[in-house]
Amino acid sequence: MHESETDNTQVTTSMRRVTLRRFEKVNNPRSIHGIYPYRGKMSPLDASHVIEQLPTKSRLLDPFCGTGTIIYEAQKHGLKSIGVDNNPLACTIARGKTDPLDKKSTIEHLENAIEAAKSLTDVTPMPSQPARNFHEKTADQIMRILSVSNDFSSYLLSSFYGAICLAARACSDWIWTSTSTGKINKPLKDIDFYSKLLRKARKHIDYVLGTPSVKIHTHDTRNIHQIVRKHSVDFVYTSPPYFDALDYTGYYSKIVLEILGVDRSIIREGLIQRYSTYKEEMTKALQSIDQVLHDESLVIFVVGNRMVRKKLIRGSDFFTEIAPWTDPYIVEREYTKTASGLWDKINITKRKEQVIVWDLASGGRK
Ligand SMILES: C[S@@+](CC[C@H](N)C(=O)[O-])C[C@H]1O[C@@H](n2cnc3c(N)ncnc32)[C@H](O)[C@@H]1O
Repeated sequence: MHESETDNTQVTTSMRRVTLRRFEKVNNPRSIHGIYPYRGKMSPLDASHVIEQLPTKSRLLDPFCGTGTIIYEAQKHGLKSIGVDNNPLACTIARGKTDPLDKKSTIEHLENAIEAAKSLTDVTPMPSQPARNFHEKTADQIMRILSVSNDFSSYLLSSFYGAICLAARACSDWIWTSTSTGKINKPLKDIDFYSKLLRKARKHIDYVLGTPSVKIHTHDTRNIHQIVRKHSVDFVYTSPPYFDALDYTGYYSKIVLEILGVDRSIIREGLIQRYSTYKEEMTKALQSIDQVLHDESLVIFVVGNRMVRKKLIRGSDFFTEIAPWTDPYIVEREYTKTASGLWDKINITKRKEQVIVWDLASGGRK
């Protein structure tokens, strides 16, 4: 994905300013973030560029943290941070990126688990729906690892789930793109899951920092004030759930959740992703977020344009209307050449996003 606009644009408020940078590419392959292909994952380079401008002695909240891109980058820059998301799978990945761990014993644990998995005699077969994506030998290896994963750390679980996604793609000979995930390409290839998993765990582990400690809560942000202390947050930085009903339990996560035997509909119930109720639910979340802010907090939302029922809705118009804060500063950016040509077609738009900054010190509350 290439960004075509916004070169060192300054988002300025009378008190503080945040600059945004132009990037040729939004992904950083030399990072922890490739551990899992989460839907809606934001650019770590973008996150890092914004976060490095924030004072380290401050407390950052990402109320829709997903797999923790912002939280990890905040940790890297020494900020105290809290992530909240109501999708338990996303929270596991966010913890996997940020929890402290001992690298040597973590890899040893995985090596031993793989040996134990190989010698299991009684293995539960993979449920038929996800099994369609894997060669039978690969599916058997995945289920063996599942049987020995009860004591896995969040990092090892993240590696396990990420390796399932990689193996699914590899069994279909890597034909999957962001719009063809789940397409089966027969004959399915026999992929050695054990080596994929081990390679993945070894690849990302050096990026785990573990300090300063961060808190990731699996919780509904519509009631975030129940778990985050009132008036305690200096910065909110987030990309909220999209209002075109993007399914955060779909895409690769569908395969992982089906293998784990988790009912996706139960997770979806707790997420804001139905466009009929989106406005009401997001308004509730913003009001709850407001309770944890103080009078000088800075709030940064990354939102986008969406086509909903054939009507183009500009993310920043929508959010400035429902947010409880006044006088936002908005910068619009345009993306072209996205990985998903289909996405552009559906949305009949070049991929546009806006960064909205509310500075409560210079603006205020409605
Ligand atoms: C655009 S994604 C954020 C992705 C994240 N920035 C990342 O890089 O992985 C929006 C997130 O909002 C979460 N979400 C939706 N409704 C929620 C709710 N009611 N409470 C908490 N999180 C919610 C979804 O699970 C999803 O992970």
